[in-house]
Amino acid sequence: IDTVPVITIDGPAGAGKGTIACLLAQKLGWHMLDSGAIYRVAALAALQRKLDLQDETTLAAMIPILKIEFRDGEAWLDGEVVTGEIRNENCASATSKIAALPAVRAALLELQRSFQQSPGLVADGRDMGTVVFPGANHKFYLTASAEIRAERRLKQLSEQGLSAKLCDLIQDINARDERDASRPVAPLKPADDAVLIDTSSLDRGEVFAVVLRHIA
Ligand code: CDP
Ligand code: CDP
Repeated sequence: IDTVPVITIDGPAGAGKGTIACLLAQKLGWHMLDSGAIYRVAALAALQRKLDLQDETTLAAMIPILKIEFRDGEAWLDGEVVTGEIRNENCASATSKIAALPAVRAALLELQRSFQQSPGLVADGRDMGTVVFPGANHKFYLTASAEIRAERRLKQLSEQGLSAKLCDLIQDINARDERDASRPVAPLKPADDAVLIDTSSLDRGEVFAVVLRHIA
């Protein structure tokens, strides 16, 4: 029934999903969904309101009243640019907490599916191929060792003039992966029909070439 084609790219933090999703969406001229950014904006709203990050009912009730938008290359919450704020590890950690709550995930489903628009969509996240777009035309699952993913994050931070300790980043990433993979609803795992790519020893061009070969 889904006439607009979808390609999903799932996997843990720092596997290279966003990079590949962006390259692919550009190449195909398709829309892009950064579902993690949606969860991050919702988590930021919860932090701003000082809500209990385990209070599922209150968190889920907050979501429909939020104005979450992506335009001009920025993420917006209720008319304010929050692109930078949603990227820090504090927000990431809050994000994986609220993302474990089924009512929160259900409240964000419709917004995510609304990105499926002509001529096509490249969707990046944890459960794009398993839950949000189970009928996707192509599904990819990117992974890499936690050390490599933490090193990539460190490099990203240093390019932004920020610093962090590699051991802290490895710890943060492992804690978040553990939370994402062990939750009962939409856990981080490859769809049965996903193509698995270990990006540990591949640069982005090499990963992109593998992806293009599969969709050709
Ligand atoms: O979206 P996700 O958290 O999965 O990862 P990303 O933000 O696309 O990539 C994290 C960082 O790793 C970026 O700085 C990429 O340029 C880099 N990267 C890499 O070094 N090698 C790859 N094969 C893919 C990404
Ligand atoms: O960029 P990175 O891969 O580190 O994270 P992200 O894609 O921005 O996602 C941040 C957090 O949101 C993840 O650790 C998950 O807890 C949650 N998330 C999710 O539960 N489902 C998604 N489809 C996307 C993100």
